[in-house]
Amino acid sequence: MKICVLPGDGIGPEIIVEAVRVLKALGLAFEMEEAPVGGAGYRALGHPLPESTLALAKASDAILFGAVGDFSLDSLPRELRPEQAILGLRKELNLFANFRPALVYPELVDASSLKPEVISGLDILIIRELTGDIYFGKPRGIRTLESGEREGFDTMRYSESEIRRVLRVGFDAARKRSKRLCSVDKANVLDTMQLWREVAVEVGKEYPDVELSHQYVDNAAMQLLKNPKQFDVIVTGNMFGDILSDEASMLTGSIGMLPSASLNENNFGLYEPIHGSAPDIAGKGIANPLATILSAAMMLRFSFNHIEAADRIEAAVKRVLAQGFRTGDIIEPGMKAIGTREMGDAVLAALN
Ligand code: IPM
Ligand code: MG
Repeated sequence: MKICVLPGDGIGPEIIVEAVRVLKALGLAFEMEEAPVGGAGYRALGHPLPESTLALAKASDAILFGAVGDFSLDSLPRELRPEQAILGLRKELNLFANFRPALVYPELVDASSLKPEVISGLDILIIRELTGDIYFGKPRGIRTLESGEREGFDTMRYSESEIRRVLRVGFDAARKRSKRLCSVDKANVLDTMQLWREVAVEVGKEYPDVELSHQYVDNAAMQLLKNPKQFDVIVTGNMFGDILSDEASMLTGSIGMLPSASLNENNFGLYEPIHGSAPDIAGKGIANPLATILSAAMMLRFSFNHIEAADRIEAAVKRVLAQGFRTGDIIEPGMKAIGTREMGDAVLAALN
C-alpha cells in the first residue's frame, strides 16, 4: 500500500506531519512518499502540480493532501497559482465524488457559534460534485469589450452523466444511513440546475427506498443554520458544495475539524481537510491537525478497508477531546490551548 503525501502550503506541512505520525503508529505496512504541490510545487519545480508529483499520485493507492494557497503567488497567471494543484488532481484523477461529513462532537457543542440545542448530535454528510460545474466550465476568462470595459465570465455546465453519477453516490450513501437524501440546486434560475433536478428525480426512481427532497441553495444555506438536523445526506454541485461545506463546518465548532474524501469511480481517493492553508497562522505550530488526522482515518476506511484502524483513530480523536485537549480554534473559556504537535502527541497517546 503506497500513500502519496502532499503537504502543500501554509499550515499544510504542519498538519500533515501529525497525520503521518498517527498513520505510522498503527503498525500497518504503508509505504509513504512525499512530493511538493501548490506554492511549494511552484517554488521547487516551477509548477503547482509538477509532473513528477502527478506521476507519484497516479502510481499510489491513495493520496493524503494538506492544503494549498499562498497569497504571495496570487499575481501569477491562474494556471500557475497554488489552487491549480488541487483542482488539477481532482480533474486528472477524476475524483468527482467528494464526501464532507460534518459531525458535532459532544465536547465541542459549546465551541460552535450556534445554540447547543440546534447542533448537538448533528451528523450530516455533504456530497459535493468535484470535477464539473463553473469550476471547470469553458469558456471562461476576462475579456475587453468594444466599449473598452473589461468583462469577466465563467460557465456553469453539467452533463447528464456527470449529474447522474454523483446523484447515485448520494443515494448509495443515503441508503447506508437514514435513507434520506436532499438534493440542493438552483433550478428556479439556472438551466444547468434545472437539468440537475430532472436527473435527480430520474435517478430517484432507481432508489424507491430513499426519500428524495430538493432545496434551492439559498434556502439550504438558511436551513443549515435554522435547523441543520433536518438533513442527513446532502448532494450538490461543485460550487454550492464548496460554500455549504464551509458553512456546515461552523455548525461543528471549527473548520479545523472537518475531513474529506474525494473518490473516483474505482474508489481511488484523495483525502484532505476541508480547510485551506491558513497563511495567517502558518509556521506558528498552532493549527488544528484533527481534520487531517480524521482524513487519514477516512483513507483507511474508504481506500484500504482498514475499518478497525479507522475506528481506532476516530476513537482516539474523541478521547482527546473528552480529555480536554484543544487547539486555539476550538478553545472555550477556562481551557488552555495546545499546539499542533501537542495535539498530535495527544492523539498518539490516545490510540492505545
Ligand atoms: C475546498 C477549497 C478549494 C475549492 C480551493 C482551495 C480550490 O476551498 O476544497 O473547498 O474551492 O474547492
Ligand atoms: Mg472550500
